Amino acid sequence: MTSQVKVLPSGHTFSAGAQETILDAALRQGIGMPYGCRNGACGACRCKVVSGDFAQLDGYSSKALTEQDKAQGYALLCRAQARGDLVLEANEMSGSRDIPIKTLPCRVEKIERIHDVAILKLKLPVAERLQFLAGQYIDILMKDGKARSFSIANAPHDDAFIELHVRHQPGGHFSDYVFNTMKEREIMRFKGPLGSFHLQENSVKPIVFLASGTGFAPIKGIIEHAIHSGLTRPMTLYWGARRPADLYLRELAESWLEAVPGFRFIPVLSDALPDDGWQGRTGFVHQAVLDDFADLSAYEVYACGSPLMVEAAHRELTTGRALPGDAFFSDAFYLSKDGTKP
Ligand code: FES
Repeated sequence: MTSQVKVLPSGHTFSAGAQETILDAALRQGIGMPYGCRNGACGACRCKVVSGDFAQLDGYSSKALTEQDKAQGYALLCRAQARGDLVLEANEMSGSRDIPIKTLPCRVEKIERIHDVAILKLKLPVAERLQFLAGQYIDILMKDGKARSFSIANAPHDDAFIELHVRHQPGGHFSDYVFNTMKEREIMRFKGPLGSFHLQENSVKPIVFLASGTGFAPIKGIIEHAIHSGLTRPMTLYWGARRPADLYLRELAESWLEAVPGFRFIPVLSDALPDDGWQGRTGFVHQAVLDDFADLSAYEVYACGSPLMVEAAHRELTTGRALPGDAFFSDAFYLSKDGTKP
């Protein structure tokens, strides 16, 4: 049985299956309900049920939802399932400014090295989940008091871990540490989510993604969120790199071709050698977009990676391809010596 849930005062509606929590259903459909732990501990998802039946599942903290809360018609959405159509009252998150920024410890659960990129999976304390919008970033707080910024590479629904992609910059303080010293189970601290680079959920425009290098990370998060949300907007991903090995998750990007109707993936190499046997596109990644599109006036473009690429894409797509300035969204990686954003 599927129920319809209406949220006041926004009037947004979403459907909720009997076997999923109301919070999961809302997030799956891009409704920005507030949450913290997603396991009944923190109370951040508590909201008033104005009308309708629901089941409050066991396994929540009596501090997160008290007997008095229940008597007054409140529910913990991360531990509740709809049993009919519902009307809720909740303060929805409409953008990155609405999401609380937290400073949290995390454990390095897994380090996977692919070519010169380390894929870190960070685990939060049991009672914490990080609410974020796909495409945002976190600051890793170093022991020397400095912060290193990294985009979140997973989608918000897939939040058991925070995934970061760290390119090795020889001589770089943090990336050298990740490649040479960091061990699994190590504890770090971070602050986030940060940044305003995220999918514009209310738009229906087709999307062009432009990534260079590990600029793929936040775009991966956005695409996985779009897939999970059932987004039907056509999406084209251009991923620029120097040589084939630099497309460090190329098979994942290729798998989206099968999984997502209307998805196109165009890898572009700038420094392929004859030995690479590269048969695909070559040159600068933003040039490939210029070559393929005569008119981008009806599109949105999301660009992430080197400042040179992002700035050239913005300049040339807005002036040469009629892309509206407010349809260009970007996150440029201004590299410090250690290879991270400042
Ligand atoms: S998100 Fe923490 S109690 Fe629901």
